[in-house]
Amino acid sequence: MQEFTEQNLADAVVDRMSSQTDPRLRQVMTSLINHLHAFVREVELNEAEWMQAIEFLTATGQLCDDSRQEFILLSDTLGVSMLVDAINHRRPRGATENTVLGPFHVDGAPVCELGTDISRGIEGGQPAFVSGRVLDEHGAPVVGALLDVWQVRPDRLYDVQDPESPEMQLRAKFRTDADGRYYFHTIVPVSYPIPDDGPVGRMLTALGREPWRPAHMHFIVSADGYAPVTTHLFVRGDPYLESDAVFGVKKSLIVDFEKSTAAAAPDGAPMDGAFYIAEYDFGLARS
Ligand code: BEZ
Ligand code: FE
Repeated sequence: MQEFTEQNLADAVVDRMSSQTDPRLRQVMTSLINHLHAFVREVELNEAEWMQAIEFLTATGQLCDDSRQEFILLSDTLGVSMLVDAINHRRPRGATENTVLGPFHVDGAPVCELGTDISRGIEGGQPAFVSGRVLDEHGAPVVGALLDVWQVRPDRLYDVQDPESPEMQLRAKFRTDADGRYYFHTIVPVSYPIPDDGPVGRMLTALGREPWRPAHMHFIVSADGYAPVTTHLFVRGDPYLESDAVFGVKKSLIVDFEKSTAAAAPDGAPMDGAFYIAEYDFGLARS
């Protein structure tokens, strides 16, 4: 009979896998078991800490339902989501970089006419006009590309976090025109804290970390024959760009929101006060 020791127990667990185990599952589980055992040996985990970890993971799972995904939040705040994202979306030069999807995307946002105001009269934001083009790797316009857009409200909540909210607040889809151009009206996005009233929030507090995300708008840009891009545009100058709670900021995704006092927006819409203009061209790579 084999004696299990601190040093050989990981090998013994790996050896228990059946020879029929799917090769990729074997590779992933072998590595996971080896890293997990090495971690426990390295920190010499005590029993109270082990139980605390079990209780933390239990609470994380118990908080998950259709509208709250605490495990994704855990993955995001530990940088795992961005690492998986980076490994899976190595893009050619010129293609827009990916960043986290986040938990607040909703399927079924309405396809709106270019120029629509997606804030739909919401109170408290600074008006903004956002435009640009969707281009292929040669800089040619991608006609009919679909942009799925969503952003947080001025009260720092997404519509889905407020049971009283009208549906699809600050959400819309747009199709690029014959020049590959898109444009719409909205409000300047604001920074906001990720949900921090659960185990992940308690973890951040224990680690002396902030829950804040810098102001951003979310986009999923897709077109037939191209790899879709899930990304954000961040507001230059935001104080949390260097300390995003989920490590999602990339320099190439930071844009200027420039103040304008013109009487009309670039699409000709009359403006009755100061507003902000942001411009960004998305690059798509062939799939
Ligand atoms: C978001 O940007 O919507 C988000 C991303 C990761 C975690 C929480 C929120
Ligand atoms: Fe967000």
